[in-house]
Amino acid sequence: MKNTILVTGGAGFIGSNFVLDWVASEVAPVINLDKLTYAGNPQNLAPLEGNPRHIFVRGDIGDSALVDKILAEHQPRAVVNFAAESHVDRSIHGPGEFIQTNIVGTFNLLESVRAYFGGLDDESKKTFRFLHVSTDEVYGTLAPNDPPFRETNPFEPNSPYSASKAASDHLVRAYHHTYGLPVLTTNCSNNYGPLHFPEKLIPLVIHNALAGKPLPIYGDGQQVRDWLYVRDHCSAIRRVLVAGRVGETYNIGGWNEKPNLEVVHTICTLLDELSPRSDGKPYKDQITFVTDRPGHDRRYAIDATKIHRELGWKPAESFETGIRKTIQWYLDNQSWVKNVTSGDYKKWIEKNYSQE
Ligand code: NAD
Ligand code: DAU
Repeated sequence: MKNTILVTGGAGFIGSNFVLDWVASEVAPVINLDKLTYAGNPQNLAPLEGNPRHIFVRGDIGDSALVDKILAEHQPRAVVNFAAESHVDRSIHGPGEFIQTNIVGTFNLLESVRAYFGGLDDESKKTFRFLHVSTDEVYGTLAPNDPPFRETNPFEPNSPYSASKAASDHLVRAYHHTYGLPVLTTNCSNNYGPLHFPEKLIPLVIHNALAGKPLPIYGDGQQVRDWLYVRDHCSAIRRVLVAGRVGETYNIGGWNEKPNLEVVHTICTLLDELSPRSDGKPYKDQITFVTDRPGHDRRYAIDATKIHRELGWKPAESFETGIRKTIQWYLDNQSWVKNVTSGDYKKWIEKNYSQE
């Protein structure tokens, strides 16, 4: 077994941030397996072009022959599984791909990894890890005064997306209990930061504001999410990979619960300061209330005490510092935004916001 790690979904939002951070701070090479769906963007990895410590392979986690070949050839000491369909609204319009990648794909990946793990020598078996990246949405929704999600909360997923992620978490757990695969699972709250595809709330609002378009708020905008800066999420995953207890799950959150409307107001205020509208009016004038998301979860909140107590991890960014950095990144990287908002993106926006 080599020191290499295999990352799946490493051309997406969190995966590419993880790969960039990894190559910048670790010596071990990374194999990056990504199908390059609409959400996968090779441009995210442009800084690694020509770097021999990053090997990109285009392919599906569900393609057993390909995954078997990668494992045999590169002998990784860990697999970090980010690959997934990740957007709740898309799962409502078309759940099929979510079942395929998040459930069947994870199952096929686990089967390949199980076979690979079975062939390792005893020493290598001791250090090998399969880390599965999941979401707080598997726990369902919270009432305003409920305590935040703990690792012991029951799973109550409410969207096709969260149901498919919950299924994958269960499979990962079962592969540990049944086959002894050394797994770790992380359940994380809403990420934000650089390289975030502008179908999700924060990048969509920044993009629409600068483009002079409406800022769509679903329902009353009082749904609460717990925001985590993406590089904090990446540092937490690395910490769990090094020191997490095999078979355990770790909740990762930012201790930053905010209602959506407040998040959008904050973005508008920062844009007023950093890139004022040419007509001198405030960006909040573009806020528009639109039809609510079906089955919209009211509140998510993460209790990240376990990862702090056991592994000493806590987020470095507050929402105030993280959102400022994020907005500045979008202002400085308008060509990236232009690139990802052409073609299929336009069709998606028409479909989701047509109020049919
Ligand atoms: P993303 O949609 O930005 O990226 C997903 C990546 O996976 C893309 O590069 C895509 O091409 C790739 N992919 C999709 N299907 C694939 C397949 N069958 N085989 C190989 N690659 C495939 O998602 P993200 O926001 O970066 O999320 C990454 C992971 O983190 C997901 O598992 C998601 O459920 C989880 N997560 C995300 C958040 C968040 O706020 N974004 C929070 C908690 C957990
Ligand atoms: O909680 C973790 C999850 O966070 C991840 O597992 C998902 O992959 C990720 O997409 C995210 O899910 P959300 O549904 O919470 O994120 P999204 O950015 O789509 O929406 C955030 C909130 O903003 C949610 O309450 C819906 C609302 N919203 C979203 C969009 C796109 C709007 O009001 N208007 C919008 O246009």
